[in-house]
Amino acid sequence: MARRGTVFVCQNCGATSPKWMGRCTDCSTWGSVIEEIRQPERPSARSGTVREPVPVTSVPEDSAQRIPTGLGELDRVLGGGMVPGSVILLGGDPGIGKSTLLLQILARLASPSRKVLYVTAEESMSQIRMRARRVGSESDHLMVLAETDFGSVAGTIEKWAPDTVVLDSVQALHHPDIGSSAGSISQVREIASEAVGLAKGRDLTTWLVGHVTKEGAIAGPRTLEHMVDTVLYFEGDSSHTYRILRAVKNRFGSTNEIALLEMTGQGLVEITDPAGLFLPSTGRSSPGSAVVMALEGSRPLLVEVQALVAQTPFPNPRRTVSGSELSRVLLILAVLDRRAGIQTGGLDVFVNVAGGLRLTEPAADMGLALALVSSILEKPLRGGTAVCGEIGLSGEVRPVLRLEGRLKEASRLGLTRALVPASGADKLPAIKGMEVVPVETVEEAVHVAFT
Ligand code: TYD
Ligand code: MG
Repeated sequence: MARRGTVFVCQNCGATSPKWMGRCTDCSTWGSVIEEIRQPERPSARSGTVREPVPVTSVPEDSAQRIPTGLGELDRVLGGGMVPGSVILLGGDPGIGKSTLLLQILARLASPSRKVLYVTAEESMSQIRMRARRVGSESDHLMVLAETDFGSVAGTIEKWAPDTVVLDSVQALHHPDIGSSAGSISQVREIASEAVGLAKGRDLTTWLVGHVTKEGAIAGPRTLEHMVDTVLYFEGDSSHTYRILRAVKNRFGSTNEIALLEMTGQGLVEITDPAGLFLPSTGRSSPGSAVVMALEGSRPLLVEVQALVAQTPFPNPRRTVSGSELSRVLLILAVLDRRAGIQTGGLDVFVNVAGGLRLTEPAADMGLALALVSSILEKPLRGGTAVCGEIGLSGEVRPVLRLEGRLKEASRLGLTRALVPASGADKLPAIKGMEVVPVETVEEAVHVAFT
């Protein structure tokens, strides 16, 4: 049982209970329940002052002038720059480049007329200084503060009144009024909610850095995402130099856009033309490789998918997938088996997407299927071929979004032949130098891809 004044809170979903449990009854997570100090009862909110609502038409339209971050790719993901007073949560694995990115942005924003503040709760001032030198972000107007106590941080913000602030990270800050340790869900929630209050009251643009749990959610997950205006996630793994910044929530723009960045010796730089980045470096096609005409947000991207199908030395064959979903690959293997007579039952299957990119759209199915078949047959696809199409359970190839844009990009990058879903292909305008081959089924695709 809880001691007086304490409550047990699940660190995953925020559910509370009066006694400890090994497994949360709400979200079924094991070992996530910890004891926290109960918050004092607050007086009823009904005694607040009565205000006068106004007709929506009489509200002045906020021209919401946006502040460019200095990185065009990031501005695109944000919907055209930062909105003053907005709160942006930046999540991602440790070491992916969150602190680096924000230090670079702040240094570019800092000027005599724009006050910016970088609050670090994780690193020392000298570490920040060293990083600033490395990425060329040494500016006299970039102010730093090493502090873990959120009370002091909030006080400093109120007094010093910056235009933009970074809190790195929300999990490392500690709110003095909350009993639990830094990083617990109550702490994270309270700090985020006060940070939102600070931001809205004074047009202060706030960046919150959030760590990601093993499951890929920002710790103290759902609650935090609801409170802020924009949620950005860093993707890619630290062993690759490419980084993808994706908006998963954005009150001021679309959530489809991604930013492509590269981690260099001097910090993150934008990749404005990703042409060929995710294509085979040799330029020749080899067995087990297929080029997918993918779409990331509004941007077509050509990406190589690789597969290796091999005799297994083990009793149980393995299926190892990176950059795509295992369930998708299993489905495609089953469809190939039943609809095209291609068996992989006793074979190991490995699938990989070039450059650490994650291909989640169904249009990549055809690339997965043909890369697999190509590896099984030990035969490359005909040179210069790009493919796309979703594969249905009966082996039918289904249409994809924005086929024309994908084909134009493929043609621009020198590919000469494209296997595309038959439905929708008849309406396509001719694309110079590109032979478009419509296919209706995966069997048909296998038939034409190698000849
Ligand atoms: P960092 O921004 O500290 O990551 P996060 O805040 O998300 O944990 O990134 C650290 C990694 O980036 C580290 O492995 C070193 C590398 N790095 C570079 O390659 N070039 C650079 O200019 C900097 C500053 C870091
Ligand atoms: Mg960091």
